[in-house]
Formats: sequence, C-alpha cells, structure tokens
Amino acid sequence: MANILRNKRFENDVSNLTLDFVESISFDKRLAGYDISGSLAHVTMLSKCKIIPKNDADKIIKGLKEIGLEIAEGKFRFKTELEDIHFNIESRLKEKIGSVAGKLHTARSRNDQVALDLRLFLREEVKLQIVQIKKMQHILLNIAEKNIDLIMPGYTHLQHAQPVSLAHHFLAYYFMFQRDKERLTETLTRINVMPLGSAALAGTAFPIDRNYTAKLLNFPKIAENSMDAVSDRDFAVEYLFDASLIIMHLSRLSEELILWSSQEFSFIEINDEFTTGSSIMPQKKNPDICELVRGKTGRVYGNLISMLTIMKSLPMTYNRDLQEDKEAVFDSVDTLEKCLEIYIAMLPKIKFNEKNMAQSAALGFLEATEIADYLVREGMPFRDAHSITGKIVRYCLKNNIRFLDLDIGTFRSFSDLFRDDIYEHVTLTQSVDSKKSFGGTSFKNIKETIRKEKGRL
Ligand code: ARG
Repeated sequence: MANILRNKRFENDVSNLTLDFVESISFDKRLAGYDISGSLAHVTMLSKCKIIPKNDADKIIKGLKEIGLEIAEGKFRFKTELEDIHFNIESRLKEKIGSVAGKLHTARSRNDQVALDLRLFLREEVKLQIVQIKKMQHILLNIAEKNIDLIMPGYTHLQHAQPVSLAHHFLAYYFMFQRDKERLTETLTRINVMPLGSAALAGTAFPIDRNYTAKLLNFPKIAENSMDAVSDRDFAVEYLFDASLIIMHLSRLSEELILWSSQEFSFIEINDEFTTGSSIMPQKKNPDICELVRGKTGRVYGNLISMLTIMKSLPMTYNRDLQEDKEAVFDSVDTLEKCLEIYIAMLPKIKFNEKNMAQSAALGFLEATEIADYLVREGMPFRDAHSITGKIVRYCLKNNIRFLDLDIGTFRSFSDLFRDDIYEHVTLTQSVDSKKSFGGTSFKNIKETIRKEKGRL
C-alpha cells in the first residue's frame, strides 16, 4: 500500500489492523468543509507571502474547491487507508492536480490543521446553540406572560412550601438559560482563536503571515504559543462543560414535566405529538421525550469526563490521544442540538391544568408563612411566630379544616395579636402578591421582570 503517509522511512507496509485502529476518517469526515476552508486560507497566505508561486496556489485553490463540491454532492470516496480527513483531501488533490498538491502542506502540520478544524466546527455549532437557547428563552417568557395569575404550589423537598405564580417558576428556567447563553458566548471567545501557523509544534521557518490567514478565516485572535495551540483542547472541554450545564437544566425541567404529567399531579398535558403510547397498556400516554432528555444527560456528562481524562496526563505537545476529542465533542453537540430542538417544538404546546394546580395549592397550608409574618409584623419574634403557626397547623390538621375556616376567636386563642384582617392575609393570591422583595414572586415583580427581559432578549 503506497500513500502519502508511507514515505521511504518505512520498510514494511502498515497492517490492516493498525489502519483500522488509527483511522479517524469514519468520524472526522464531518470536518471536511472546515478542512477545505482552512486549506484555502492557508494556501492564499502562502501565495501572498511568496512562499509558493501564485500559479501553483491557483491550481491548489481550484482543486480544493472542486473537492469541496465532490464532498457536498456525496461523490467523494473517503478511504480508511488514508486515515483522516486531512490526508483524504490532500491525496485527492494530488490525484487531481499532480505533485504541486504537495505544496499545500508547506509551513503546516496536521497538528495545527486539526486544531483549526475543530475550532471552526465548534465556532459554528456554538453560534447555532446560542440561537436555540434564545428561542427557548422566548418560549419561557411567553409561558410566563400567559400565566402570571396561575397560582401553584411552590416546593422545597418536593413538599408544598409556599404558593408561587407559574410564571415565576418558568422565569427561573429563563434565568438558567440566560446564564447558559452567557457561558456559551464567553466560551466562543476562547474557541475563536486561530492555531494555524503553529505547524507541528514549534512554529515554522517560512515567512508566513498568521494575521492574514486569521483575517481570511474571520478569527479575531491568533494563538500566541505554538506548543499550546497544537496541544490544548481546553476550549473543547469548556464547551463540553457548558453543554453539560445546559442539559442539566433541560433535565431538571424534564423531571418536572414528567412529574407534572403524572396522574398524581395532573398539572400539565403534553401534546399528543410529543408523547408515545404503550405497547400493552392502551390507556397510557408517556412523556418519553422528557425521559430521553433526562437520560441523555448521562452521555453529555460522560463526554466531559472523557475529554478531561484524555487531557489529564498528556505531555507536551500533540499526542495521538487527542484524536479521541472529536467523537466526544460531536456527540455532545448533536445530543444537545436535538434536545433543544425538540423542546423548542414541545414546550409551547404544553397545556396547564389551572384547576388542578390551584386545587393542589389549596392543600398543605401554603399560607402558613403569611400567618407567621402577620404575627411578626405585630411585634412578635419570628421564632415564636413560627412556633404558634405550627400549633395552628396542627389544630387545623386534627380538625380537618383550612386556615380560612378558623373563626377569629380560635385564631385569638393562639395569640391575641390576631385581628379580623388576618383573613385578608391567608389567601393564596395575597400570599403570592406579598412577596414583593426583589426577585420574589409578587405579580408586580413578575410583570416587571417579563417587561425587562423582553427588552433584553
Ligand atoms: N487525525 C488526527 C487527529 O485527529 C490528525 C492529527 C494527526 N497528527 C499527527 N501528528 N499524527 O488528531
């Protein structure tokens, strides 16, 4: 087997077993478009800097563009024996234009080439995911806006705690995604650094112009140390971490939607389009999408751990271990994109069961804090008020009644600070609306937040 990988240094052919083991073309062919863009910029720079003659560069450019078309049209034959996308393209270029193709690799190595390709790939995907997250945020804001008056139980320990507006609940997710978006945007600035021109590890003796190449490829920055540029993948680790947090947030939301669509809660109905049936129980409608998103969180976390582990003992500079970066990155990118895509379609069609939410909020003495706060406002220390309210709750439980069923005499038997106006405080609406502290669930706060965030998105 003769190819550009086997020069005269080798006496024997490589075994098929080795070829099969070291190849990456089965997955890095996905980088083809970026590899060609990188090569086009590189060769343009080589010609501009007079490192190769212009007419050679023109031939290379023409050939590369034709190869780009062949790939786009599905006519390109990827060959395992050519290992990876870089050699596959270079070898095809040689078939097309002859030995002048060999000039393309002047002042370049696959080490800076592959680092470039991965950065170009991630740059595009991260931009796409930022747009997807924005869409999610729009949807969450819309849900909030439509459900300001919908009161539901707020939970701690999955126990009824205090009533909140459904809008407040969804705005919580809105802010999680806001931070996710900010994180991706930050990460993008570190992805967007050009490694090309670092060559194998030490830079090159040719008079290249890295700033020119960076301009052609739209990079605002170039890597400042050639060894760092070919060997680190911290930008990929960072993306994988961002992706892990995003899917963690999606998974929390999924868990809630799964609970809420159960018979026990019956808070929501997920549209038929996004549920599946059971093969044996005809009555069932399962929230499989939410479960799958929750489940896929595992693989996205896994990819982060893979990448961190790949990196942890790598001596400087490039080591073949780094080839393992791609599948982890591709998998997280694809998984997350799909999860966001289906959520963007599913979420706006969720129906909230207002009646069940309100009924549920009426259980569990959610207004208890209001009673304690009332006593505090009358001058009682909070701890005492807390204890008295606890006694009232126990009394109500024993007699199977709600706070509103207590007559004023009974209230006053617990504390003579109670007056008739206590009844105004123990309604769910009042309880929600009283949380006027900044960031609290009061209706005014929620309206203000929605207004502000709509302007910001
Ligand atoms: N396929 C390789 C990778 O993904 C390309 C770089 C190979 N470089 C090398 N010196 N063997 O990392």
